This record gives sequence, C-alpha cells and structure tokens, in this order.
Amino acid sequence: MSIKKLLAAFCFISLLQGVAHAHNNPDFKQVEIGVLKYEKGQSNSIKLSIPDKTTKLIWKVTPELEKGTNIILLDSEGSKLESIQSGSESKDLALYKDQTISLAKGSALGESFEVKVIANVIDRSKKHSLASSSVGKKVYKKANCMGCHKWHGGGGGGYGGAAANLRETQLDRGQIKFFVSCGILSTRMPFHGRSAYKNESEACYGKTQKELGEMAAPRARILLSDREINAVSDYVFNVIKDKGEPTQSECFDFWGETSRMCKAMK
Ligand code: HEC
Repeated sequence: MSIKKLLAAFCFISLLQGVAHAHNNPDFKQVEIGVLKYEKGQSNSIKLSIPDKTTKLIWKVTPELEKGTNIILLDSEGSKLESIQSGSESKDLALYKDQTISLAKGSALGESFEVKVIANVIDRSKKHSLASSSVGKKVYKKANCMGCHKWHGGGGGGYGGAAANLRETQLDRGQIKFFVSCGILSTRMPFHGRSAYKNESEACYGKTQKELGEMAAPRARILLSDREINAVSDYVFNVIKDKGEPTQSECFDFWGETSRMCKAMK
C-alpha cells in the first residue's frame, strides 16, 4: 500500500470514528420540575429541586406570548434572577439550586400565562443501552445466541429442547454475564468465556471442566472476549429482558428494514 493510500485510509477511519463519537453523545430527557402561573397580575412561587445531572433549565411559556415579550424571574427576596422568553435557557444553573422563584408583577403586560420549568437531564440509562445495544446485537448474532434463543430471545421449543425465555428472565445483569461466560451446568446452555475454566480456582463454578464431568456445560462454538460478554449481557438485560411479546419494529431493528420475515409479521 502506498503512503498516500495509507494516509487516506487513516483519515477515513478517523472520520468514521468522529461520526461514531458524535453518535455516542449522551441522550437528554426533559423533566418538568414546576409550573409558575401568572394570573390577574399575580404569580405563585415555587421551590425548585433540580434533579441530578441537570445541564440547564428551559422555560416554556404557554400560551406563546408575542415575540420579544420579556418575563422576569425573581428569587425569594424579590430580586431579579433573569428575564426570560419562551424556550430560553437558564444562564447559570447554580443560581437556581434550591431557589424559590416567582414572576415579577407587570410581566407581559398582565396577560395570563404559565411558565413550565423544564430540567434538561443527561439520560445515562438510555445512552448505556443505545451504545451497548448495537455492539451487543452484533455479538448476539456472531455467537449465534439466536440459534437457541431465537432472534427475539423468547427461546422455546423447535431447537431440540427449550432454551430459556430471555424476555422473561429474572436474572440481573451480573447473573446473565456469569451464565453467558460459564454456561449453565447440566443444560445445553454453553459457556462462551474465552478464559472460562482456564483458571480452576476462581471464575465459573470453581472446578475444571474435567472435574465437572457430565455436569459440565458444553463449549460454545465461538468463544467471546470479556468486552463481548459485557456487551451481549447488556444487550440481553437492556434490550431483551422484560419486553413482552416480540414486535415488528424490534424485528426490523434486528434483521434490517428489508427483512421479509419481519414484513410478514403482524
Ligand atoms: C445451544 C443452545 C444455546 C445457545 C447457543 C445459547 N443458549 Fe442460552 N440457554 C440455552 C438453554 C437450553 C438455556 C436454559 C438452561 C436451563 O435449563 O436453565 C439457556 C439459558 C440462558 C440464560 C439463563 C436465563 C435464565 O433466566 O435462566 C441466559 C442469560 C442465556 N441463556 C443467554 C444466552 C446468550 C446471551 C447466548 C449467546 C451468547 C446464549 N444464551 C446462547 C441454550 C443456548
């Protein structure tokens, strides 16, 4: 490969990483934490309690007031905190920690309106499941979990015995990880951990495959790294567990938009 090509390939990879990175930005959720009502020239006051991981407050005014109409937010002493408009954001979040706020008299020329106080909160749980779900899904396919549990994790018959229904599993993430890595004794659930059973004393059931004899879990055809086991366990825990009946949109998500099987699904 010429140096130019190498450089081009390198740039391309960096570009891809850039894109992937942008995609991993945390998700936000918006939580309403209070409503200020302005009626007949009077406003109520509310004490704000700001959720953890809030990045800013957003004021939402209804009904929409004329553009450029300022509303003045006051603290508990009646001093001005800032003037706001619908959709504007708090300039300094610290100003509002445990603050009691109200609206100044004469705001918006005495019209009636309300101001919803919305906290913009980093949604870690969502980020977690989204970030891990695409990798986890890949591992789920690569390790052929669906060979026994089916694409939707519902398991069931038709595969020479009942594989557990992962949609109804009661296991937590750590337990899922353990069973994926070490398999389940005396069942067909195979062990997938690349280093499972390598070290007799610790991991898995504290015994070697040999000592377990007939109870030993079968070895999966494809063994997985720790990272892959984490990703597929997150996938089972966040994406499959507790999801009820499989849906068509889940099917497209798993097999792609063109899947005939999913199109046939109701
Ligand atoms: C060869 C078939 C087979 C394959 C492949 C397989 N499993 Fe299983 N799995 C089973 C069977 C059978 C059980 C039920 C064991 C039992 O009776 O407790 C099971 C149980 C489980 C359980 C325990 C569920 C519970 O609630 O007890 C988890 C979690 C699990 N499998 C995840 C996976 C994942 C993830 C993969 C892919 C990495 C995978 N399995 C691959 C057959 C399989």
